[in-house]
Amino acid sequence: MPGATLSENHAASATPALILSARALSDKAAGIEVRQADAEGAVRDKFVEFIGVEKFYGAFRAVRDLNLQVGRGEFLTFLGPSGSGKTTTLNMLAGFERPSRGAIMLDGKPVERLPPYERNIGMVFQNYALFPHMSVEENVAFPLSVRKIARAEIAPRVRRALEMVRLNQFADRKPGQLSGGQQQRVALARALVFEPTLVLMDEPLGALDKKLREHMQLELKQIHEMLGVTIIYVTHDQSEALTMSDRVAIFDGGAIVQVGPPDLLYKEPATAFVASFIGENNALDGVVERVSGAECRVALQGGLTATALAVGELAPGNQVQIAIRPERISMAAASLPGENRFQGVVEGRVYLGDHQRLLVRLPNQQELTVKVGAEGAPGNGQAIELCWLAADSRAFPIKAPASGKQSH
Ligand SMILES: Nc1ncnc2c1ncn2[C@@H]1O[C@H](COP(=O)(O)OP(=O)(O)OP(=O)(O)O)[C@@H](O)[C@H]1O
Ligand SMILES: [Mg+2]
Repeated sequence: MPGATLSENHAASATPALILSARALSDKAAGIEVRQADAEGAVRDKFVEFIGVEKFYGAFRAVRDLNLQVGRGEFLTFLGPSGSGKTTTLNMLAGFERPSRGAIMLDGKPVERLPPYERNIGMVFQNYALFPHMSVEENVAFPLSVRKIARAEIAPRVRRALEMVRLNQFADRKPGQLSGGQQQRVALARALVFEPTLVLMDEPLGALDKKLREHMQLELKQIHEMLGVTIIYVTHDQSEALTMSDRVAIFDGGAIVQVGPPDLLYKEPATAFVASFIGENNALDGVVERVSGAECRVALQGGLTATALAVGELAPGNQVQIAIRPERISMAAASLPGENRFQGVVEGRVYLGDHQRLLVRLPNQQELTVKVGAEGAPGNGQAIELCWLAADSRAFPIKAPASGKQSH
């Protein structure tokens, strides 16, 4: 960022957009809504594209082989453990970092030569990055004044932006006189007031308590719906990603290991890492005995065997990990189908209001978490039978490169 401090850049880039404008609303009405991509990840109306992007810091490769398309109007989330390359990727798009390789396209044009403030991107950060000496109103007006918007136009736009985040009555306060949630609303208004076409949010709710965070998630979602602006959102909170996003890109070790709508990632994770990172999951290690069609038979520890869907190319002798969700395991009545049947002993029970979680130990000492109804679950020490369908469990090859480090 030659000739500018980071905070100047942040502030300047926080300048575009209150897309309460008729343009955005009419785009929405005209059906320019790209919510999903095809199986190859190509979106219908692509707005942002990363093509073979890599980022090295010295010899360390922080981002590798990044290929991703983001649709116009889409809400896409980068989800991954700490250090997996989410912020670095966002910073390359914003212009705070340069890719070591590859290209980034914004609305069909390469962005490499554009400084941050010319990319028309709004940004919201975890730490708000507000100017402490300026009032709320001045903070929100800042992006407009640096863009030389006429004075007469600034006041109504600031007012509309503050209305959107319901902060009008606080216009004269300083950021230090606001709560964390209110400060983050100011940051949001500042990121939207200049009508950016793209808003990047890096852990924007990370500093807020759980209740406020959930409330803000809904507000952000509503604002996205209302404005039709494209949002790329970063979090390492999976429930936040699933709640808010049209699609989620899962980062691991500097690479995107899978991208898709939340339900697809949950139901059809591509790797053991994704299965363990999205939602609750039981993992059973074993070795493939035989493969037949889409399924494989796996020898587990202690002489048990299980059948599961085979993910990827598997052959006898391969080490695999079987993933099975707690809600897919039933306490078997004799009549229930299920290729996988196991005896177990209940070792713990957690009451969660609308359901209970049982901790069940199999004869090979493996522990499974099972989701059961709120009433009448077996008590500790009771022997039970568990079963699940092969089609509900997935066997992933382990030691595959992308799932090599499960360091979350
Ligand atoms: N300026 C830098 N110089 C050297 N290494 C860096 C630099 N910035 C980031 N890294 C490294 O690049 C990797 C990716 O960092 P990045 O900040 O993108 O992670 P992240 O996914 O945003 O993590 P978090 O969830 O903790 O914010 C990390 O290993 C980090 O230490
Ligand atoms: Mg980060």
